[in-house]
Amino acid sequence: MNRVFIKTYGCQMNERDSEAVAAMLRARGYRIVPDEDSADVMLLNTCSVRDMAEQKAIGKASYLAQKKKRNPRFVIGILGCMAQNRGAALLDALPDVDLIVGTQKFHQVPDHLDNLRAAQAAGAVLPTRIVDIAEEAGSQNTIREHVLEDRQVTAFVSIQQGCNMDCAFCIVPKTRGDERSRPMDEIVRECEELADRGVREITLLGQIVTSYGRRDYEHTGGISPFVQLLERVNAIPGLKRIRFTSPHPRGFKDDLVAAYGRLEKLCEYVHLPMQSGSDRILKLMNRPYSRDRYRQIVDDLRRVRPDMYFSTDIIVGFPGETAEDFEQTRALFEACNYDMAYVFKYSVRSGTPAAAMADQVPDEVKEERNQVLLRLLEQNSDRRNATLLGTTQEVLVEGPDKKGVQFMGRTRGNRIVHFAAHERLIGELVPVKINRASTAVLYGELALAGVER
Ligand code: SAH
Ligand code: F3S
Repeated sequence: MNRVFIKTYGCQMNERDSEAVAAMLRARGYRIVPDEDSADVMLLNTCSVRDMAEQKAIGKASYLAQKKKRNPRFVIGILGCMAQNRGAALLDALPDVDLIVGTQKFHQVPDHLDNLRAAQAAGAVLPTRIVDIAEEAGSQNTIREHVLEDRQVTAFVSIQQGCNMDCAFCIVPKTRGDERSRPMDEIVRECEELADRGVREITLLGQIVTSYGRRDYEHTGGISPFVQLLERVNAIPGLKRIRFTSPHPRGFKDDLVAAYGRLEKLCEYVHLPMQSGSDRILKLMNRPYSRDRYRQIVDDLRRVRPDMYFSTDIIVGFPGETAEDFEQTRALFEACNYDMAYVFKYSVRSGTPAAAMADQVPDEVKEERNQVLLRLLEQNSDRRNATLLGTTQEVLVEGPDKKGVQFMGRTRGNRIVHFAAHERLIGELVPVKINRASTAVLYGELALAGVER
């Protein structure tokens, strides 16, 4: 029982947590295997943001339970948000699960697997089950080890856990707990080490990154702790690009807007969750901004960086959302001209304030509104692609593309580009002339005079 496969659902935070668990398991002598079939331990790192995500993981765990019938020593673990949200109750629906580990206990996974293994070796007759979902002070500091592939160019760094915003629809404050930030010096050290190991682009992660350090550090000269952190990461030699996710519109004060004009490594791509364009719905959602304020942030950022790329999160069909409310969202969505957007149909999360609200919106209406925004997004994306044709973009070369035929990298605006290159350019910023575009991928050629492919 030492070959582990970790399957990750949900957001980049989850991906990062899985990577840290993998690193800790490796250090303990476990092998992380690349496919499910060769594993004898299967860990599902789960998401609870929408019901669908939970159902997927539950379906997977039931399927794995069949495998366990054939091989009783097969170990099934459920980690992360759904483990935290449902706890031991999961065992009622999934009696074959061996391990349930919450969002503040990822670092305990190696110990728990060791204990399960010891119980198996001792020939335990009854199944041994471990449920560990307590809160733990300082747990945000345990997500720090990395598993880097050979010549890995990009990495995620977790700077903060939890969220105190209490948006009326959101389960995250329950699954991830209170906002807790890591010490700035530790984050900077981790980024420096990654740069020493060849990483060139870092994405800082948190549930609400723009609030980073608000209880731990002072503003200095009008500069928030988050922007202070950006400044320090920007100063790390070797790093070439910085991104972050997810921010809150509330965090885009003058200091952060101005940072886009002066921190040269900060990429001009902002994920700015709007959720709704109706002031009435924003209020019901407990989102502390108006549509005008949101629009103003977008305009301010475009003023500092005219070539700014935007993405967003939208929820359609929040309880009480009328056709007029949705029209407000549609209009603001169109005006902001997003390059990327995640449009979600509202999903009832029990225990959140919105779950108890009147006027839940029928599924067909949610679907219709969803389609309206997706069509707009497609038009925007095509329009943006058309403006990119013939231009030369700065691309960070990440490695071979999926087919292994060409190389892939991203523009500063986070667009994926495929082009012919040479291995030695991995990790370099290169100019690429764009000559073709599909919705998801741009195609181009190196525009380097004198550089051989
Ligand atoms: N700050 C977090 C947000 C987590 S949830 C982050 O790290 O990204 C991500 C997105 O899911 C939210 O911005 C919201 O648009 C959507 N979402 C959250 N709860 C939802 C629900 N109950 N139904 C539908 N979408 C939801
Ligand atoms: Fe969720 Fe709102 Fe926080 S979307 S993660 S409660 S900012």
